[in-house]
Amino acid sequence: MIKGKPFVKWAGGKRQIIDKLLKYAPDEFNTYYEPFVGGGALLFELSPKKAVINDYNKELINVYNVLCNEDKFKKMCNVLNSYETNHSEEFYYEIRNKDRNKASFNRLSDYTRAGRTIYLNKACFNGLYRVNSKNEFNVPFGKKLKVNTYEGGNLITVSNYLTMNDVKILSVDFEEAVKDAKKGDFIYFDPPYDSDTSTFNSYTEDGFGKEEQKRLARVYKELSDRGCYVMLSNHNTSLIQELYKDFNIHVIEAKRNINSNGKKRGKVEEVIVTNYENKRGFEE
Ligand SMILES: C[S@@+](CC[C@H](N)C(=O)[O-])C[C@H]1O[C@@H](n2cnc3c(N)ncnc32)[C@H](O)[C@@H]1O
Repeated sequence: MIKGKPFVKWAGGKRQIIDKLLKYAPDEFNTYYEPFVGGGALLFELSPKKAVINDYNKELINVYNVLCNEDKFKKMCNVLNSYETNHSEEFYYEIRNKDRNKASFNRLSDYTRAGRTIYLNKACFNGLYRVNSKNEFNVPFGKKLKVNTYEGGNLITVSNYLTMNDVKILSVDFEEAVKDAKKGDFIYFDPPYDSDTSTFNSYTEDGFGKEEQKRLARVYKELSDRGCYVMLSNHNTSLIQELYKDFNIHVIEAKRNINSNGKKRGKVEEVIVTNYENKRGFEE
């Protein structure tokens, strides 16, 4: 089976630690839940037959919905073709600024908006997703001469996976997204990062502070008590150590790949927390 890859570059994307995530994933499970799906690195790697995916970011989830519909997917490909042909700095700002007029933006078709999201992600500076207080995408031009929105047919692979399997797509709060999870289901939480110094960790207009991390830890425990397999990744901070001290905390090294300040890129410690043991994870 050809597996898909994230079709957008997303802050906190997990491609670079995918082997570690696979190592600590449960051996078997029923439905897969990913309540902070972002680019979906683990979703596509596992390609489960039954999944529930969710993200607060409406524009991102709109892309997943379009990929899941054959007819809309074709229409989005036409949009992407024309965006690739017209690509230039001036064109980038023209497409980026479509959300400045909310009335006309809301009249755009879902497949045009999905094409816009993918194009902006590929053409903007460093693949960042950032909106201002008015929910306007405000990342500057990435100075690429050419953009490749399909990336070797990956979009087609991803669309085939989503249409041919039972994948439910939601855009609600993470707690709501996992309310139907049952014993034997696997939930992977990849929330916005906690930070000991608390700097850039706001991916959407809402942000995700210490109180949200604490609420997530309560939900983690509830799911664990329900008999679900629960895995979470985050930075290795004092708060995360405290919140998950009753579970298995595996410390790993990861490369930080999105940082608005290039000098700060480097290795950071991350943790993978599980409420179960599997065969692979404990063979060091
Ligand atoms: C670290 S990213 C996920 C990265 C992803 N796993 C990947 O591999 O690309 C965190 C995501 O959580 C979403 N988010 C933030 N607050 C949320 C909330 N309360 N409920 C659901 N999603 C939320 C953000 O929109 C963002 O896409």
